Amino acid sequence: MKKVGNHKSIFKVVTLSLSLLLSVSLSSFAQDPAASAPAPDAAAAAAPAAGGDAAAGKTLFNANCAACHKLDDKMTGPALRGVAERRDRAWLIKWIKDSKALISSGDADAVKVFEEYNKVPMTAFPQLSDVDIDNILAYTSQPKEEPKAAAATPGQPGQAAEGGLSNSVVLGLLAVVLAVLVVMLLMVNNVLTKIARANGVDVADKKFSVMPLVKAFVKNQFLVLVSTILMLLIGAYFAYGYLMQIGVDQDYAPIQPIHYSHKIHAGDNGIDCKYCHSAARTSKNAGIPSLNVCMNCHKNISEFQGDPDSTYVEYTKEFYTAEIQKLYDAVGWDKTAQKYTGKTKPVKWVRIHNLQDFVYFNHSQHVSVAGIECQTCHGPVETFEVMKQHSPLTMGWCINCHRETNVKVEGNAYYEKIHAELSKKYGVDKLTAAQMGGLECGKCHY
Ligand code: HEC
Ligand code: HEC
Ligand code: HEC
Ligand code: HEC
Ligand code: HEC
Ligand code: HEC
Repeated sequence: MKKVGNHKSIFKVVTLSLSLLLSVSLSSFAQDPAASAPAPDAAAAAAPAAGGDAAAGKTLFNANCAACHKLDDKMTGPALRGVAERRDRAWLIKWIKDSKALISSGDADAVKVFEEYNKVPMTAFPQLSDVDIDNILAYTSQPKEEPKAAAATPGQPGQAAEGGLSNSVVLGLLAVVLAVLVVMLLMVNNVLTKIARANGVDVADKKFSVMPLVKAFVKNQFLVLVSTILMLLIGAYFAYGYLMQIGVDQDYAPIQPIHYSHKIHAGDNGIDCKYCHSAARTSKNAGIPSLNVCMNCHKNISEFQGDPDSTYVEYTKEFYTAEIQKLYDAVGWDKTAQKYTGKTKPVKWVRIHNLQDFVYFNHSQHVSVAGIECQTCHGPVETFEVMKQHSPLTMGWCINCHRETNVKVEGNAYYEKIHAELSKKYGVDKLTAAQMGGLECGKCHY
């Protein structure tokens, strides 16, 4: 029959064009890996002959060295890019493991660089193995990534652009694919009607109408009942969710007087939380550092250079440098004269976490005694460009954790004794914070 033949050919057209579309969109995805493939090769070629894993080195560098060193600029210590070419490996290993010993041994190079940097002692790193140091050196020996060069070779898109774009590119592609699909469907519909007409089939332009549907629905009382109940349930669900949020400030992220990025400090530069929030270990409050603490580093860091490997794309270098200037204005530091002017204006940080006054919470109890990581309660802070409240801070949240978390008994004579008694009483070999009294109202409420 004629009709059947037509259907088949239309089916073919549709499948053909669909597969064409798919292959087009797939190949455009495939471009990404193909384009970025040369990059690792280039990096490997530039690494020193000694070998070493530059990626592992970068992590070590950020965690141990970044507080005082940058790759391309002087900070507390010298710029480290290419040190492995300036000094020999044995010297570097000795220096990094214990620079003081090397200086006191009278090594001429060591004494010279020590004096050049006003005799600021460098931390000793006896814990780093030779392999660790090779990895760090591999990282410091990587060639500087020139943004210009990246733009000139279209094969290597700039890191930042790639990271920022990929999501929107994918979304854009999906949107285009969808749009094309819709257009194709319309066209297919058109073609079908035309063919049907050509074949003498009567396809009246039936206007689609919803009225009969609505009428049928209203007449069916059962359907009306079911859908009313459904609507009520959904409404109640959202109302409950809304009510439970009152007083809960999860994700609260106010704008601070200085745009201070935890990602840049604790993440990219690997600064330990307790360097700034030192009180968390010993007292109830973790505390916000005084601006003097900031100036320990920022006397030297007046401009934002940025780590070329980082992914912050939201803000420009000029923006960040201006934020550092705000810090200077606040403490009254004249960066050209390198001295304090005496004119200060305190920074009023907006408090984010704030339990009700009737609740008692103690940081040292959790951080030092229980050994809980900051991130367990505050989330992956080292990735926060803007600080926010990660946990709900509700009573249920505290209690749940007390039920689930075992107290750290080892190495605590006091606990070991109580543990022995209580575990007999409860007949368990682990002891949760709850069993230690972590559910008693009076422990958390004044
Ligand atoms: C507390 C700050 C500090 C830290 C942390 C630090 N350094 Fe240093 N580093 C210095 C200072 C300051 C100097 C300059 C010499 C001096 O005054 O002792 C220096 C010098 C050096 C030198 C000699 C450079 C040259 O040109 O000869 C090397 C190499 C070096 N550091 C590597 C490292 C490595 C690798 C790490 C991390 C594992 C590290 N440093 C961590 C402060 C630091
Ligand atoms: C270089 C100093 C510095 C380091 C390092 C640092 N912070 Fe902060 N932190 C601050 C400053 C300044 C603020 C106040 C501004 C803000 O909220 O962004 C703050 C705010 C906070 C707050 C919110 C306080 C409030 O108002 O409720 C938390 C939680 C926090 N830091 C946790 C951490 C954790 C966890 C780390 C380690 C991963 C860390 N911080 C590392 C300086 C630092
Ligand atoms: C241990 C060293 C250290 C301390 C302490 C420190 N900073 Fe920084 N800060 C840095 C480094 C490193 C950078 C990044 C510089 C770069 O990449 O060029 C930076 C960047 C910044 C920037 C620009 C990026 C951003 O986060 O917006 C601001 C603003 C800033 N710091 C403010 C502060 C304030 C406020 C404090 C005190 C609460 C502080 N810093 C304490 C090392 C430190
Ligand atoms: C057991 C969960 C928990 C852990 C672990 C924890 N915090 Fe907190 N943190 C809280 C709570 C709850 C608050 C709100 C306290 C309040 O309002 O009295 C808070 C508040 C803060 C604040 C702002 C107010 C203040 O107390 O000064 C900072 C800063 C902070 N935490 C940093 C840290 C750092 C840094 C660590 C890791 C050393 C850490 N916290 C570990 C739960 C925790
Ligand atoms: C991530 C888990 C965790 C969260 C969240 C948590 N706690 Fe705890 N808390 C513990 C652990 C573990 C201990 C037991 C510490 C020890 O060894 O004494 C403890 C102990 C305590 C104690 C001492 C109990 C006693 O027997 O002396 C108080 C008070 C306390 N927490 C209050 C709170 C409050 C208030 C919150 C919520 C704002 C909270 N905690 C959230 C884990 C948590
Ligand atoms: C582990 C700590 C902890 C324990 C134990 C605890 N609470 Fe709470 N409670 C809290 C916190 C935190 C809040 C604040 C919740 C908020 O702000 O949403 C709170 C809030 C409350 C509120 C105010 C209502 C509300 O949700 O804001 C009441 C009432 C209350 N608690 C009663 C009790 C009673 C009764 C007990 C003993 C059975 C008890 N609590 C045990 C931590 C605790």
